[in-house]
Amino acid sequence: MTKTGFIFDLDGVIVDTAKYHYLAWKNLAEELGFEFTKEQNELFKGVSRKRCLEILLDIGKVSATQTQFDTWMVEKNVDYLKYIENMDASEILPDVPKVLEFLKKKAQPIALGSASKNARPILEKVALLPYFDAIVDGNNVTKAKPDPEVFLIAAEKLGVSPENCIVFEDAVAGIQAANAGGMISVGIGDASVLSEATYNFNDFTSLDIPFLEKLMNN
Ligand code: BG6
Ligand code: MG
Repeated sequence: MTKTGFIFDLDGVIVDTAKYHYLAWKNLAEELGFEFTKEQNELFKGVSRKRCLEILLDIGKVSATQTQFDTWMVEKNVDYLKYIENMDASEILPDVPKVLEFLKKKAQPIALGSASKNARPILEKVALLPYFDAIVDGNNVTKAKPDPEVFLIAAEKLGVSPENCIVFEDAVAGIQAANAGGMISVGIGDASVLSEATYNFNDFTSLDIPFLEKLMNN
């Protein structure tokens, strides 16, 4: 039987960290003298830290020298790290452990494919690191989602060909990256936003074991 690889995004799929990214960007925006709304934060999902700051400065019509830009990148991350400092398993999104446990029991290869440079410490904090056979994060890529690089590296590390990989994503850029890599994309969240996904679910509580079995046997 052909092997199937299961690749998970982190923020907004495994843990609810999008709210902390939002708070940290909002604090920076306030410091720079403008408002940053939850609606605008949608644009930041799946997007690299650098690209997020570029978008934020565009929103606030703020121009920056390279030094200021670099300082604000660090400042946002220091602030974000304070929010996630005390994170624990209670912040894992519903039914994620059930899905990981099932895949592990069935000996399915599992990888993380995240844009975040903070992915590994977060997985450690919520005690999910042992489930992953490969971790590919913001430290390992040169091209951000919607480029498929992060997922293609994950597939390679799992030893599974891209067309046999399933990607779970909550961001439009992430779904586009999975599709561009020739993978099956599963949108976790609002189906009208993630309309380009192969399959859609609100969250993992609405994704049942027979569906996972179907993916495994594809
Ligand atoms: C993605 C988030 O997972 O990681 C983005 O959806 C975030 O909002 C990106 O900007 C980079 O994260 P970090 O932790 O490296 O700043
Ligand atoms: Mg995400």
